[in-house]
Amino acid sequence: MAILNCKFIQGFMRMCQDGFEQGWHERNGGNLSYRMADSEVAEVSPYLSKDAPMMPIGVAVPELRSEYFLVTGSGKFFRNVIIDPLDSIGIIKLDDKGENYQLCWGFVNGGRPTSELPSHLMNHEVKKKKDSKYRVIYHSHTTNVIVLTFVLPLTAEVFTRELWEMATECPVVFPDGVGVVPWMVPGGKDIAVASSKLMEKYDVIVWAHHGIFCAGPDFDITFGLCHTVEKSAEILVKMLAISPTKRQTILPDEFRALAKDFKVSLPEQFLYEK
Ligand code: 13P
Ligand code: ZN
Repeated sequence: MAILNCKFIQGFMRMCQDGFEQGWHERNGGNLSYRMADSEVAEVSPYLSKDAPMMPIGVAVPELRSEYFLVTGSGKFFRNVIIDPLDSIGIIKLDDKGENYQLCWGFVNGGRPTSELPSHLMNHEVKKKKDSKYRVIYHSHTTNVIVLTFVLPLTAEVFTRELWEMATECPVVFPDGVGVVPWMVPGGKDIAVASSKLMEKYDVIVWAHHGIFCAGPDFDITFGLCHTVEKSAEILVKMLAISPTKRQTILPDEFRALAKDFKVSLPEQFLYEK
């Protein structure tokens, strides 16, 4: 089917497969959404149905009114996306208030968008308002990040600083740091509101004992961000398995020197003396 050859659908499916191969998507774990550009909507328009019933989103996202999103389905497995995309993914359109959605394509065997749609759309809304280039929201069950939520204090300060220390590239890849949402019931409005507040400031937020949400302008940047954070978390988990303390690490003044040469600004909030 020609629609599946569209670049954004190919990129979406590749990202699902990449995440699965990393081990971040057991069963139906994780979800992905992509805010389509007008040119992409026009490209797939002949394939879109326009008369499906409106369904409530559960939150209001007026800034996203009438926009189209490619999303993974609730209960669908990332490992199946590449072999059966018509079953696993779908395109939805929001109504002119940003309160309801309509299925336009996909989920051919029945189904609906991810249960985390409220979090995805509220995060998209925050990011679009700040920078209209942002189009991707990605939720994954990154093993090592989850491990850390059992042993580190659940603060942005500690998570950011510890992850920055584990790999020199980290402060350059996520200079704004990492936000942390305490454990909350997933899938609803409350966790969507808490997440979107943090998305005002961060491109990465950790959900305690659950996973991570990343935002970005395209699939490469968003996947790469998640990959970098999780790799750093893996190094920290391995380090902590060897020793509870570090013999040496990157120091605040060294981060300041890095920031200068790499032309990023690192908030002093994360460069505290230990
Ligand atoms: P969905 O299958 O509804 O996308 O849920 C998976 C998940 O990770 C919930 O947080
Ligand atoms: Zn999840």
